[in-house]
Order: sequence, then structure tokens, then C-alpha cells
Amino acid sequence: MAEQIRVPKGLAGVAVTETSISKSDPSGQLIYRGYPIEVLAEKSNFEEVAFLILKGYLPKKYELEEFSSKLQREMRLDERIYTLMKLFPPNSDPMDVIRTAVSFIGSLERKDSLESKQISIAAKLAVIVPNSHRALLNHEFVKPREDLSYAENMLYMLTSKIPEKEDAWIFERELIFYMEHDLNASSFTVRVVASTLSDPYSSVTAGLAALKGPLHGGANEEVMEYILRLRPEDAENFVREELKAGRKIMGFGHRVYKKFDPRAVLSKKYLELLARKKRDGERIYKVCDMLEKAVWALKQIPPNLDFYAAPIFYLLGIPVSLNTPIFASSRVFGWLAHYSEQLEENKLFRPDAIYVGKKDLKYIPIETR
Ligand code: COA
Repeated sequence: MAEQIRVPKGLAGVAVTETSISKSDPSGQLIYRGYPIEVLAEKSNFEEVAFLILKGYLPKKYELEEFSSKLQREMRLDERIYTLMKLFPPNSDPMDVIRTAVSFIGSLERKDSLESKQISIAAKLAVIVPNSHRALLNHEFVKPREDLSYAENMLYMLTSKIPEKEDAWIFERELIFYMEHDLNASSFTVRVVASTLSDPYSSVTAGLAALKGPLHGGANEEVMEYILRLRPEDAENFVREELKAGRKIMGFGHRVYKKFDPRAVLSKKYLELLARKKRDGERIYKVCDMLEKAVWALKQIPPNLDFYAAPIFYLLGIPVSLNTPIFASSRVFGWLAHYSEQLEENKLFRPDAIYVGKKDLKYIPIETR
């Protein structure tokens, strides 16, 4: 038998594949298909970045128009998906509703090309996410509008209000930041499923399952729980107590970024802008700022994107239980790009494990056990 190679737990620092989709760097850099995140945040919009992530290049004007109208068209949901969403018990996690709905789309659709499947999954997720919450509250479903951009439409469906331009702009930046992040746990999951030659619906369903966990996408909901509970003057004590108890502070730390997360740096600026004009905004901003300073002073760990996206979503009037689903609605473009890239030079992921269990046990029949 070939010798086993032992790698660090969690595959930390192990490169298991090549990618040209994005790269995060310990120095605090993030590029999507070669473009720095700061440039895309300043100059681009959601549809353009989604095209870039999926196809690998910036679209020409007509390509972008075509892509945007395909997304718009594919937002229409089969009535059976709405019926399915109504079956969930009211205390269900919206991520469970979404995961099941995406899996169901896979059974309903008969699309030929990979591209049409990708656009359909991503566009439908944007409608399923806000409606997962409505289904659990037994509220009427909301349908997308044709006169709004992708991000505006999502914010409209999430809040039931046509958004102000600046609010939609800030929301769109957060969606762009959530879209892709090289080989994070959910994208790796998607690639593992893709490597078995399973379909994109199944791969995205698996990605959603991985994203739900609090060490990955779930963090942006836990963050809001303590931000809402704390006053600025309580922040340092809270951090001290959490660290003393050996608990992780959600929204801080990252496998790659050890000094700063560039998406968190930009999001903090957007939060400051938003906080000035929203009720309770100034207090929330101050709590975040004090928490960031305290965690850095006591443990030298920087905030990650979730730490600033959570209060932004909150101030935009989005229910906290939709924070992780929103993350999913954007990351789906990254997942689908990983799906395609995995298939380009596919090799089944099938690692090995070191067996540490018992051996050579004597089987005792059930009657005499
Ligand atoms: N709060 C307190 N301490 C933290 C921390 C946090 N959020 N994140 C990391 N640390 C500490 C660890 O306790 C460990 O300390 P030690 O060396 O004294 O034992 C050290 O930093 C290294 O952490 P480790 O968990 O090994 O790093 P990782 O690369 O495996 O973890 C995360 C990355 C994201 C899993 C981790 O930072 C975390 O759990 N963060 C909170 C959840 C979160 O916000 N997730 C969203 C990620 S975008």
C-alpha cells in the first residue's frame, strides 16, 4: 500500500487543487479573477461581478445586458416550490427551507446546458431566500419586480419596501463581498460533490448544508445577538469574559486573514455611513468599534466580514435569521464557478484516513452478548 501523507487538521495550509476564480491572501488582499476587491466594490455592480466570477472575464455591455435579463427571467418560481416552502414547521431554520427548495428545483427542471442550470439556480435562490422567512411566518409570498436591479430586487423582497439608492448600494457591496472566497468550507464541499460528477443542484444543496454551520456562514447571525445585547461600555468586559471562558467570539478570526479582512475594513466604512441615518445606528456602530478594539487589544484577532455585514443587514431592516441565507444567495455564484472549474480537470476527491479504531475483535452472537 502507498505510504499515507499526514496533513494538518482541517487541511490548514494544504493546497488541494488549483483555481483561477479568486484568491485571499494573509496580507489582507482579495482578488476576484485578478481584480482587487476594493476596485470591484468601488466601480462595479452585482450582476457584473457575478458574470466575472462565473465566466472569468468582465462582460461587454451587450453580454451584461443579456446576462442580467436571463437572471431576471429565471427568477420566476414554479408554484410547487412555494407549496413546498409552506410545509415547514414555523420554527424551522430558513437555511433548511432553502436547502430543501434548491434540491427540489433539481427534480422539477429539465434544462440542457450547464449554463442554463447555473443561472436558474442562482436567480431562483434570490427569490427563495426572502420567501423562506415569509413561509415560516405564514405571510404572503413576495415576487420580484422587473424594474429593479438584482440587489435592489433582493432588498425589496427582504424588506417589502422599494429601497433608497444608497441603502441598495451598500447592500450590493455586501453581496459582492460574500460572492466568492477561494476554497472555503462550502466551496470545497461543492467541489467534492462535483468531483463525483453529481449535478449542480446537488452540489449547491451540499454547499448550503456546509454554509449553515456557525463556524462558516452561521456566524453572521450569532454576531447580531451580542451586538444587540451590549452597550459600548460593556464591550471590553464582554470580550474579556468570553476569552476567559475559552469561547470563540463570532465574527472574529479567519483561516487566511490574520491582520485584517479587506471586506470587513470596507464594510466598517459602509456601516458608519448607514449608522448616521438609521435609528439606533450610532449605538450599534459604537458597540462594533469598541468590540473590534477590545478583541485586537486582548487577542490580536481582526473582525471578519460577518462582523460588519450583520449590523449592516440589521440596519437595513432585514430579519437576522436571513443573514446566512443572504450570504448563500450571493455565494451561489462562487459555488457554481467552482463546480465548472472542478469539472474542467476533474479528479474524484477521495482522501484517506488513518485508522485508529480497534482490530481483530472476536464476534459474539447476539444471544450471548
Ligand atoms: N474568538 C476568540 N479566539 C479566537 C477566535 C475568535 N473568534 N478565532 C480564533 N481564535 C483563537 C483560537 O482560540 C486560537 O487561539 P490559541 O492559539 O490561543 O488556542 C487561535 O485564535 C487560532 O484559532 P483557530 O481556531 O485555530 O484558527 P482557524 O484558522 O482554525 O479558525 C475560524 C478560523 C474562522 C474558524 C475561527 O477564527 C472562528 O471560529 N471564528 C469565529 C467564527 C466566525 O466568525 N466564522 C466566520 C469566518 S469568516
